[in-house]
Amino acid sequence: MPRRDKIAVIGAGNGGQSTALFLAEKELGDVTLIDIVPDMPKGKALDILEGAAVGNFDVKVVGASKMEAVSGADVVIVTAGSVRKPGMTRDDLLDINVKVVASVAEEIKQHAPESFVIVVTNPLDVMAWVMKEKTGFPKERVVGMAGVLDSARFSAFIAEELDVSVKDVSAMVLGGHGDSMVPLVSCTSVSGIPLTELLPRDKIEKLIKRTRFAGGEIVKLLGTGSAYISPAMSVVMMAEAYLKDQKRVIGASAYLSGEYGISEGISGIYLGVPVKLSGAGVEAIIEIGLDDDEMKMLVASADEVKEQIEKVKL
Ligand code: NAI
Ligand code: 2OP
Repeated sequence: MPRRDKIAVIGAGNGGQSTALFLAEKELGDVTLIDIVPDMPKGKALDILEGAAVGNFDVKVVGASKMEAVSGADVVIVTAGSVRKPGMTRDDLLDINVKVVASVAEEIKQHAPESFVIVVTNPLDVMAWVMKEKTGFPKERVVGMAGVLDSARFSAFIAEELDVSVKDVSAMVLGGHGDSMVPLVSCTSVSGIPLTELLPRDKIEKLIKRTRFAGGEIVKLLGTGSAYISPAMSVVMMAEAYLKDQKRVIGASAYLSGEYGISEGISGIYLGVPVKLSGAGVEAIIEIGLDDDEMKMLVASADEVKEQIEKVKL
């Protein structure tokens, strides 16, 4: 009997459970939802499974509290860790989440050595780096989710401002998944029409600012926790690109070893760049010409990530 792909989601909080639901709805594979909290992941998995008849999907969804449950996974999505509280930056999470992601990485290395790993935990670019360092996986098999979400947010704000369908907006956001991210105006268009033809510069600047702080805007509104529906949709899009060998060109946090000339001085960093995501994982990093301002912003964002990586003790 042909075997269905196995997708493990580590961290069964808001982001993890939403991810498991969207994976199941798309029938991308059997889903295992894992958390250190006893019973809770089983309860969350069961809640999804019990909706299968009405949701019209037919895959297994199980929960587990032992990390060995990751065993044999083809794709591992890591959402384990803490979230920002109001007033906290993503970077405040660094110390707490380094420990979580490093321990999860050891388990993945041992139990799912051939898996493709998508990291969601913040601070995203640093956590993706920790995952690669601790698993020792090739750079193609460890990626961070940020660019898809940040671009989706930029697209949503553009569509709202122009009162056009979001389906016609194509946006690209580079850099670290932090307040220094770089929404790329030169690569943003509406049905091929450059954004600069449709909106004056000051309006575009406002949308860029809102995109940079979009995660924080939701944290503030929620009161507890951070965004999880759009992040879960974004990570599922990436898992689908891998499992179906779709060769999607998207923004993602990828391991740079010389590309864009910004990983000199250290062994390599993770940063949001355009990539080709296929069944080979991060099949290619696409280097595009940036204007002086964009390059300056990308370098500044890379410097922030580098600074954080240098603080990490593994
Ligand atoms: P949450 O607090 O709802 O869930 C986190 C879960 O991780 C909890 O259930 C907790 O028990 C679990 N956990 C903690 N340590 C663990 C370990 N060692 N092994 C297994 N599970 C463990 O948080 P939420 O909303 O799901 O967010 C998760 C992470 O994703 C946060 O760091 C958040 O900042 C990040 N995030 C990143 C986004 C991105 O664009 N990259 C977007 C949204 C969230
Ligand atoms: C976000 O951007 C918190 O990184 C998370 O919503």
